[in-house]
Amino acid sequence: MMIEDVKLSIRHRAQRNYERQFDERNRVQTDGIVTLGRLTIESPNKNMGSEYVPSPGRLIEHAFAHLPPDLREYTFIDVGSGKGRILLHAALHDFKQIIGVEFAAELHAISKQNIAAFSAANKHHPPISGVLGDAIDFIIPDGKCVFFFYNPFGRPVMERVLENIAASYRQEPRKIYFMFLSLKHERGNDADANRELLERQAYLRPLKSWNANRGAWIKLQFGSHKLTMYETADAGNPIKRRQRGANGAAASHLE
Ligand SMILES: C[S@@+](CC[C@H](N)C(=O)[O-])C[C@H]1O[C@@H](n2cnc3c(N)ncnc32)[C@H](O)[C@@H]1O
Repeated sequence: MMIEDVKLSIRHRAQRNYERQFDERNRVQTDGIVTLGRLTIESPNKNMGSEYVPSPGRLIEHAFAHLPPDLREYTFIDVGSGKGRILLHAALHDFKQIIGVEFAAELHAISKQNIAAFSAANKHHPPISGVLGDAIDFIIPDGKCVFFFYNPFGRPVMERVLENIAASYRQEPRKIYFMFLSLKHERGNDADANRELLERQAYLRPLKSWNANRGAWIKLQFGSHKLTMYETADAGNPIKRRQRGANGAAASHLE
């Protein structure tokens, strides 16, 4: 067996066990891949949507440790929340509220069942709600937020969603975190383009503590995934927009 195969088998086994135990403990069912073709989706963006593949919850738990220790003022939003696995992980932390946005009616229905079962199994947790609809129509909540994306859609949709968030930030400059997850060797979808869009948002900077300090064990276990995190600069700073001049050189100005 090649060393890469050994690594892969360690990753798969560790992740599968963790997710199975999470589902059993909370009496939910978040596993399994679901393609979107036959699902009820009232959106012109259906063809740009990624199929349902749940995130590795344990990796997201590691990343949560890099958010501020007191999350009571933060709303957590999973954009493209599927069966709701990451909503339930977020619910183990003290967020102000947790919201999932999902455009496939069948996945939204499963996430509602999962939220109800999770609530029965865990008496104390933040309010969790699911919104059925397209992410581009989602109204950005006031106040501090953490946005989570598991590469849910193509670049044109990502662009619209990021415009909505930037407009909300312009209205109310505040602390916002972004978590963007994708599979490392994904092809034929817009993971790199979406990440680049995030990196071009001049009001965001990489969350250094996460991007620099992942330990070797996390890299070994989750080497198939790439998770990058971003944060707004200190609240109160106006958005700095980068523009290309006639000669193609990047220039910045305050809006
Ligand atoms: C890769 S799955 C991620 C599921 C979940 N966030 C997780 O990490 O476990 C992407 C999800 O985004 C949903 N989706 C794709 N395009 C969407 C859109 N325009 N609006 C809302 N949901 C969308 C899909 O139906 C799918 O459930």
